[in-house]
Amino acid sequence: MSKLRIGLIGAGGIATSVHIPAYEAIADKVEIVAIADVAYDRAKLIAERHQIPAVFDNYETMLTETEIDAVSVCVPNKFHKAAVINALTAGCHVLCEKPPAMNQEEAKEMEDTARRAGKLLMYGFHYRFQSETQAAKRFIDAGELGDIYSGRVQAIRRRGIPGWGVFTNKELQGGGPLIDIGVHMLDTALYLMGYPEPAVVLGKTHQQIGTKKGVGLMGDWDYQNYSVEDMAIGMITFNNGASLVLESAFAANVEKQDTMQVSLMGNKGGADIFPLKMYQEKHDTLVDVTPAYLPEVHAHQVEIHSFVAQCLSGNVTDHYAKQGTNIQKIIDGLYQSAETGKAVYL
Ligand SMILES: NC(=O)c1ccc[n+]([C@@H]2O[C@H](COP(=O)([O-])OP(=O)(O)OC[C@H]3O[C@@H](n4cnc5c(N)ncnc54)[C@H](O)[C@@H]3O)[C@@H](O)[C@H]2O)c1
Repeated sequence: MSKLRIGLIGAGGIATSVHIPAYEAIADKVEIVAIADVAYDRAKLIAERHQIPAVFDNYETMLTETEIDAVSVCVPNKFHKAAVINALTAGCHVLCEKPPAMNQEEAKEMEDTARRAGKLLMYGFHYRFQSETQAAKRFIDAGELGDIYSGRVQAIRRRGIPGWGVFTNKELQGGGPLIDIGVHMLDTALYLMGYPEPAVVLGKTHQQIGTKKGVGLMGDWDYQNYSVEDMAIGMITFNNGASLVLESAFAANVEKQDTMQVSLMGNKGGADIFPLKMYQEKHDTLVDVTPAYLPEVHAHQVEIHSFVAQCLSGNVTDHYAKQGTNIQKIIDGLYQSAETGKAVYL
């Protein structure tokens, strides 16, 4: 079989640190044939470094002038929708970085376009591909936790406001920690819970630390133009009766520097996922179950290699695109609820 021809939209942080190396690691299956970035010099530099033959200052020209089978979309959130729709319409499979989009309307349009085009649209939710998540999934699928009726997700940094990129710009990102890091843990929880349909959400956001100069453990951020929340709290109920609470922060006065955790509670057992520990009652005894060994994986790479394998197999599914709309619906609801002070019925 011939190699999958990849085009990259965006030559910034995630494209160069994750997507390019992951594609290069399977050079027998893929070749990166083109790269486009509005910052042409940046794209050119990256292209020279990685021997990418074609460089463009806009992806529209890249998509019309180059034979491409699949595209990685690695641009700020505001530009996901247009890039994804253009690439799908040009006949490419698409791996779009997370979050899917700025809001659910955009995500739905992207989902519908993928279905119409008969192409794969997958999102960069790499925590699904961690060993812990995959092991937990096997236990859950085997019924070890029973019915999962409640969960908690945490993506909390003590002082982790990014000092680079556009992560603190609401106009370009759609929000702060909720849409940027909370979304990773939310996706992991939903994935393990079987992506239930959300029913009602209640959200509250806070902006207490980001707008002031302070200690930056992820660089010095632009506190004068800080336009996103620094903490988001949420409660989500689902049509199947389950519930989930969410805490997400770029900065909070807490002990730990960084917490990324998903906890699930079922009627036969519970689990914390990172690291994986499960809690059950067996033979009149409360027991904890921990894996003695889990393979170390590079989850970003596993995600990208899974995308490639699916593109090459031609086995196109719309379930990632549907899940993208679903998660975006929850995020929109939480932000809307935070704004209005009322619960949002989805
Ligand atoms: N999966 C993860 O853990 C993870 C980590 C970091 C970032 N991301 C996501 O990746 C995306 C990009 O983030 P980043 O950190 O690489 O940002 P970045 O700012 O480092 O890079 C973005 C690049 O996109 C380019 N660009 C902007 N608009 C464009 C357009 N219309 N066409 C072509 N290029 C354009 C910029 O010039 C820049 O080079 C975001 O959606 C972010 O949420 C995901």
